[in-house]
Amino acid sequence: MEIGSIGIVGAGQMGNGIAHVCALAGYDVVLTDVSEDALAAALNLVTKNLDRQVSREKIDAAERDAALARIRTTPTLIDCAKCDLIIEAATERETVKQAIFEDLVPHLAPQTILTSNTSSISITRLGSRTDRPQKFMGFHFMNPVPVMQLVELIRGIATDQETFDACKSVVDRLGKQAATAEDFPAFIVNRILMPMINEAVYVLYEGVGTIKSIDTSMRLGANHPMGPLALADFIGLDTCLAIMNVLHDGLADTKYRPCPLLVKYVEAGWLGRKTQRGFYDYR
Ligand code: CAA
Repeated sequence: MEIGSIGIVGAGQMGNGIAHVCALAGYDVVLTDVSEDALAAALNLVTKNLDRQVSREKIDAAERDAALARIRTTPTLIDCAKCDLIIEAATERETVKQAIFEDLVPHLAPQTILTSNTSSISITRLGSRTDRPQKFMGFHFMNPVPVMQLVELIRGIATDQETFDACKSVVDRLGKQAATAEDFPAFIVNRILMPMINEAVYVLYEGVGTIKSIDTSMRLGANHPMGPLALADFIGLDTCLAIMNVLHDGLADTKYRPCPLLVKYVEAGWLGRKTQRGFYDYR
C-alpha cells in the first residue's frame, strides 16, 4: 500500500517533530489538536527547527518552504481521517488515546492504517478496541524527532504484514532506521532507558550523588549525550513516571518500582523543561 498523506493527532513535543520530518520527506501532513494555541505553537516550532536546518545547510530554503506548505493544521480531529496513515501522538494516557480512536474510526476508509506513537501502552489492547486490529500498530519516534535516527515499530498480536511493510516503507522514506519490537510493556527503548533514569533518581534520593555529579558521571563516564536527570527533564517527568508505572504494572516486578522522589516531583508539578522546573531550574 502506497502512503501519500499522514494525519498526526496531537501537536505537542512529539507531534510537531513528526509533522516536521514527514513534511520534509514529501508527505502531505494534516496536524490536528484540540487546542488552536498548541497548533500555532507547533507550527512556530517546526518553522524554527526547519530554519535551523537551513542555517546549518542540512536543507535549502526551497525544501523548508515546500515542507511548510505540506503541513495543514486543524482543530477538527476528523479532518485527518482521509489520510492514508494516522499517527496518534496525544498525551500518554490510555483513555485519551482510546477516545481519539473511537471518534476517528467511523470516518476512516477500510484501508487506512492507524498507529500510535505510544511509548509504553499495549498496542494489542489499543488495537483491539478499534475496528481494525490487523491495520493497527505502534510507530514510536524518539525525541527530538528531527535529530534521532530510530523509529521503533511495534506489532500488535493481530497486525498484518501489509501494515507492517507500509509503515516500514514510511520509516525508510523518512531516512530513519526502524527497529522492530514485540508488544510487551514499554517495548525496547523505554524498557531499558526508563529503569536507568529511575535508578538515577534513586541515586539522588539515597544521597549517593548530587544532580550535577550524577549527570556528569553518566555524560563523561558512559559517554551519554545528556545525563539521565537532564534527559528526564527533557522527556518530561510525568512521562517517565507513566512509563515506569506501565512497566511495574505490566511486568509485576518490584525492580520497576518508581522512585518516590520521582513521584514527589510529579506531584509538585515539577515536570521538567515543559514546566520550567524539574531536576533543573529553567526559569
Ligand atoms: N530540530 C532540528 N534539529 C535539532 C533539534 C530539533 N528539535 N534539536 C537539535 N537539533 C540539531 C542541532 O541543530 C544540531 O545540529 P548540527 O549537528 O547540525 O549542529 C544537533 O541537533 C545537535 O544539537 P545541539 O548542538 O543544539 O545540542 P547537543 O549537541 O547538545 O544535542 C541533543 C542535543 C540532540 C538533544 C542531544 O543532547 C541528545 O542526543 N540527547 C539525548 C536525546 C535522547 O536520548 N532522546 C531519546 C529520549 S527517549 C524517547 O524519546 C523515547 C520516549 O518514548 C520517552
